[in-house]
Amino acid sequence: MNLKDLYIDFFVSKGHKQIPSAPVVPENDPSVLFNTAGMQPLIPYLMGQHHPYGTRLVDYQKCIRTNDLDSIGDKTHHTFFEMLGNWSLGDYFKEESINYSFEFLTKVLNIPINKIAVTVFNGEDGIPKDIESANIWQSLGINKIAYLGKEDNFWIAGESGPCGPDTEIFYFRSDDEVPEIFDPKDDRWVEIWNNVFMQYYKDSNGIKELPKKNVDTGMGYERVTAILEGVNDNYLSSVWLDIIKKIESLSKYSYEENPESIRIIADHIRTAVFILGDEAGIKPSNTDQGYILRRLIRRAIRHAKKLEIESNDWEVIIANMVIDKYKKYYSELTKNKDVILEELTKEKNKFNKTLEKGLREFEKIIANVDKILNKDLAFKLYDTYGFPIELTEELAKEKNIKVDIDGFKEKFKIHQELSRTASSGKFKGGLAGDSDKEIKYHTATHLLNAALKIVVGKDVHQKGSNITSERMRFDFSCDHKLSDEEKQKVEDLVNFWINKKIDVNVQKMPKEEALKSGAECMFIEKYPEIVTVYSIGDVSKELCGGPHVKNTGELSKFKIIKEEASSAGIRRIKAILE
Ligand code: ALA
Repeated sequence: MNLKDLYIDFFVSKGHKQIPSAPVVPENDPSVLFNTAGMQPLIPYLMGQHHPYGTRLVDYQKCIRTNDLDSIGDKTHHTFFEMLGNWSLGDYFKEESINYSFEFLTKVLNIPINKIAVTVFNGEDGIPKDIESANIWQSLGINKIAYLGKEDNFWIAGESGPCGPDTEIFYFRSDDEVPEIFDPKDDRWVEIWNNVFMQYYKDSNGIKELPKKNVDTGMGYERVTAILEGVNDNYLSSVWLDIIKKIESLSKYSYEENPESIRIIADHIRTAVFILGDEAGIKPSNTDQGYILRRLIRRAIRHAKKLEIESNDWEVIIANMVIDKYKKYYSELTKNKDVILEELTKEKNKFNKTLEKGLREFEKIIANVDKILNKDLAFKLYDTYGFPIELTEELAKEKNIKVDIDGFKEKFKIHQELSRTASSGKFKGGLAGDSDKEIKYHTATHLLNAALKIVVGKDVHQKGSNITSERMRFDFSCDHKLSDEEKQKVEDLVNFWINKKIDVNVQKMPKEEALKSGAECMFIEKYPEIVTVYSIGDVSKELCGGPHVKNTGELSKFKIIKEEASSAGIRRIKAILE
């Protein structure tokens, strides 16, 4: 049985509800491009919000980490991976969490106790040493325990957010005799699972207790599968092997001869399939997620060239294998199959047009470069021939030449800023970019939010919105499909407020004061100290950057055109102003 199924079944048997994997692109968290851990989509719930599935959750989550693209090509790194996770939202804490992990590893996966070691938080910065976890491990017969500081045993995603001390579980991946004393620096010990005891929240003001003590755990699916199958190259486990063999058969080189290029193609195409297959609808582009996607595809293309792959549709062959392999777990891949394959081929054709010329240009440039390729030449390769910087870097490295990466990044940033501004229309006549219609829709989201709270319940919270000049989309927490009656009531209420012609007022005030006055907002930590609050009579009060209409009378008629599920516990309304 697949590790994913074993994991889910085990935690379901311990009273956990399985929640679906959230999209790889976070819907309401602009601070990250992709979900990098299973807990990311759960942040509001770790912060205290009620989760519609309860207090014990389990899932496998699509994650993408692209900060060290350079390491892809070795035996253990992947840009996409699946994280198995279980959570307690103010339910159980250390005792049960550690017991569950122990039972799963030793009883379900049958890992011998002497091959397990753990690290525990040693205490630092006023946060106490985690004696309790160490005692629990000992009571289970685990004596290989190392105490480490904040650097190793305190977990937070980035700079701010829910966080806490963790206990990491290690497996002895070697046929050598297991040493008596556990040395976490000995690389025969590999980390397989992380149990974070999330009881704090950190932001720029420091650290404070969360309303509830939560547990957040994460286990890397690829790594643990490789361990269980006894291979020391992740790409030779059942997760990858058939894909690796296929690329090998398309290539002029064997896996032994060029494992890096084969791994890079396998990894990058798999990640591209998951990004293209995601509900967020990302396409290759020159900004944000789209640019990461573009870089992955282009790097894979260049390595296909290195391997002298001649097939005209190698990318489709590999992508199809990925889709087939994962469709049981991620139905969106089947649903979006045509888009995935089309976009991959489109991007390949586009890049192939300039790749040859670019490579010739590169050879010319490099012939005159002494040790460092300057930022202007690197940028020219990007701008004219579509060479992502790591491609230039990789090519230069083969010639022992360095690239002025920092200089390039600076130039690139300015360029990206300009294209973003241009594509969002912010240059048009020097206006703010928002059309009159968009401004109206913006105000309509506030009214809709207020109406949902009255009709459906106070627990409804905004989870995201998206506005074009044609329609508005509004996501909100809610555990059921709205009935026709509810939808009608919501629509009537919004139209009632529109007809009442209520003034919209704006005020600036300190964040604390705004919250005390009952103003609503989505992610409080993302707001500056002084915030703008928009009030619509006594109907609505929200922290918001605006802009808004001056009076609700400007909105004409509000109509819901669709109400559907967005993700677990989140519904989506599409509406128009007629
Ligand atoms: N969020 C924790 C991690 O990613 C479990 O390691």
